[in-house]
Amino acid sequence: MSAIDIIRARAGAEPVQLGLILGSGLGHLAHAVQGVAIPYADLPGFPHAAVSGHNPNLHVGTLEGVRVAIFGAREHYYEKGNPAAMRPALEVLKALGAGSLIVTNAAGSLRPDIKPGDLMLLNDHINFSGLNPLIGEPTDARFVPMTEAHDPGLRAGLKAAAARLGIPLPEGVYAWYSGPSFETPAEIRAIKTLGGDTVGMSTVPEVILARFLGLKVAAISTVTNMAAGMSDEKISHEHTKAMAPLGAAKLERIIRDFLKESKFL
Ligand code: HPA
Repeated sequence: MSAIDIIRARAGAEPVQLGLILGSGLGHLAHAVQGVAIPYADLPGFPHAAVSGHNPNLHVGTLEGVRVAIFGAREHYYEKGNPAAMRPALEVLKALGAGSLIVTNAAGSLRPDIKPGDLMLLNDHINFSGLNPLIGEPTDARFVPMTEAHDPGLRAGLKAAAARLGIPLPEGVYAWYSGPSFETPAEIRAIKTLGGDTVGMSTVPEVILARFLGLKVAAISTVTNMAAGMSDEKISHEHTKAMAPLGAAKLERIIRDFLKESKFL
């Protein structure tokens, strides 16, 4: 059976409206969904996604009255060197009927006004990896415009939800750095000079794939630390996992409120 058939058999055939990819330490939101959790291991083509702090299940069901598919984990480029690792899973999301995707990540901040525990809505990104998930795609569809990759309508909806809740949601530029080593202070100074506001090891390939598939996409960083060289705090994956829940609670409230007012989907 294909992944789509398995999902329909276990979760019902009703179309999904929105996909949501959860970043490091943000898995809690998946458990709010009324529906079923399907292990990635049961779904052909789904990623390996074995980084600690992630939840490798696809949760399909209803959240705030919206039919959603929540990806509790992603495969990062740094795991196996495949920037297109999320392509089959996102193709399944599209085939299930979704028109929109929200991507979340844990990130370091380069802006003194955006601190650990804060959120940032991506209004653009910089691909510092030099990699692209569409390399090898043979059709002309590979020439994806990225001018308004981060969808203005979804962004407006998320901003409005944050404003209703009184949660600050500044906008900025996310820089994708391949990882898995963290950045050096010199790299962070370079990224800052070149216009990055947060830095992390994910999201950009998924945004490119979403646009390729014709999904509207928006992304939010949960800041877990100031980027390398910007504070005395030691940067580590343990720290990322420990800090992510701080922003995750705010993220959950914003996403729930956004879904309630889901005219932006
Ligand atoms: N750099 C890259 N990825 C990250 C960071 C960081 O400082 N924090 C959480 N994920």
